[in-house]
Amino acid sequence: MLVRGVIATHLTKNLVMDTEIPLSKLQTDIHNALKSWHDPHLDTSSLDYLQLYQQATVGSSVSVRRATNEILLEALETLAVEHEHSANLLRLHFLDGMLMHAVANRLNIGQSTAYRKQQEALHQLALIIQAKENQARIEYQTHLEKRLRLPPNPQLFGVEDRLNGLLEALTAPATSWLTSVEGLGGIGKTALVNAVIRRPELIVEFQDIAWVSAKTRAFFPGMGFENETSPALTVETLIDTLLEQFNQTALLTQSPQEKKAALIRLLKQAPYLIVVDNLETMIDFQTLLPVLWEIANPSKVVLTSRHSLHAYPEISCLTLATLSPVDTYALIRYEAKMRGLPMLANAVEADLDRIYQVVGGNPLALKLVAGQTAFLPLSQVLDNLRVARGKNISELYTYIYWQDWQMLTEPARQTLLIMPLAQEGILKHLLVLSRLEPSELHDALQQLATLSLVQVEGDLEDRRYSIHRLTETFLLNEAIRWQSSV
Ligand SMILES: Nc1ncnc2c1ncn2[C@@H]1O[C@H](COP(=O)(O)OP(=O)(O)OP(=O)(O)O)[C@@H](O)[C@H]1O
Ligand SMILES: [Mg+2]
Repeated sequence: MLVRGVIATHLTKNLVMDTEIPLSKLQTDIHNALKSWHDPHLDTSSLDYLQLYQQATVGSSVSVRRATNEILLEALETLAVEHEHSANLLRLHFLDGMLMHAVANRLNIGQSTAYRKQQEALHQLALIIQAKENQARIEYQTHLEKRLRLPPNPQLFGVEDRLNGLLEALTAPATSWLTSVEGLGGIGKTALVNAVIRRPELIVEFQDIAWVSAKTRAFFPGMGFENETSPALTVETLIDTLLEQFNQTALLTQSPQEKKAALIRLLKQAPYLIVVDNLETMIDFQTLLPVLWEIANPSKVVLTSRHSLHAYPEISCLTLATLSPVDTYALIRYEAKMRGLPMLANAVEADLDRIYQVVGGNPLALKLVAGQTAFLPLSQVLDNLRVARGKNISELYTYIYWQDWQMLTEPARQTLLIMPLAQEGILKHLLVLSRLEPSELHDALQQLATLSLVQVEGDLEDRRYSIHRLTETFLLNEAIRWQSSV
């Protein structure tokens, strides 16, 4: 469903497994779980942080022991295929309850050998469960992306500390119910929250996750609130979207009051996590904050905004700073590699530092500038931007987009101008809207993607094209004027 005022964001298969459970921990936890195989009073499982465990318990009142044992049993079956003796040993000792010396006798080995083999078997079992867990996490992320229509999840640099900080704010028990991730346009607010909500730690913490994006009308970064008279996201749209994402669609036909009451009941009964991306304007805050407070506790809300909410003491604020030089270099090198720009990918640090000195550590600005080196020598790209040095970020963006505009072929300009109408569009939509020949459109999109002006998402079957909302802003505010002046 495409709700008005909600950006229909995109999904990607490009998943990053950035958290693998350490094997030694997993092995110890598996050992403990096996020891509790017969414990009728088991009320916590040493494997409860696994996505596999969440899957085993979902939708039914399966006991802790049963859910844990299911994971073990399935893994033992897999183990038996490759290492029958190992599986046998573990079954005899933990499932059949045989003492170790009896197991050793049965298997015709000494007791110390039996203990050694048990360690080996536990290690093999841990490897199996780790692989199954990785697969389960990928499936979970794919499901999450599709269900929430999440933005793509790109490779991020220099986010470790921020990511852990946000994760801590969301998982610690007695922290704020509302957290706002703030910073300039293109600094990485959406990217950070998007990376955090995929973390397995949150699966354990929250019943479910929702992602609502309040699309703002065009405005420049760093210029504060727009003087809007109606919110980008209305309370009713917010409530409808949350009900829909939490699988409560049957309630959608009820009155606004009933829907709100039902949503509050749901979110009070267990902790849910709600992300509201791009909450920017004063009117948005005035409209939505009271409702967000009502639905919070024990549920938590994360906002992303270019505006700071430091004035609200109950909201915990995480302000994103620009990337460090080292992270900037890593980002540029990565972008260059992805765009097939070997000169830039292999550039010496001094050259990368020249970019940093002019552009700073704003990820979106860096991506755009990296793309320009496909068409112009680095010194010219930097010379062109030197005028913007020391100016504010919105001026820097204006220069960058202006340079991009100069480089674009006519079909590429034509394609870019229709992008605000074709967000998440497929090729067929773009062909109709741009009125270009397929080969012209293909070349245009290639140029736009190289310049990071257009993001390409999805897989070969379902390729979608979109533009960052800052690019959209500049198109709507500036390029239309530029077009008439060239
Ligand atoms: N740490 C990072 N490393 C690499 N790329 C990043 C990083 N942070 C953000 N990006 C990329 O930079 C671009 C801008 O990021 P993002 O959309 O998250 O910014 P934002 O702060 O949400 O901007 P806006 O205020 O316009 O919503 C995206 O393409 C994103 O993938
Ligand atoms: Mg954003």
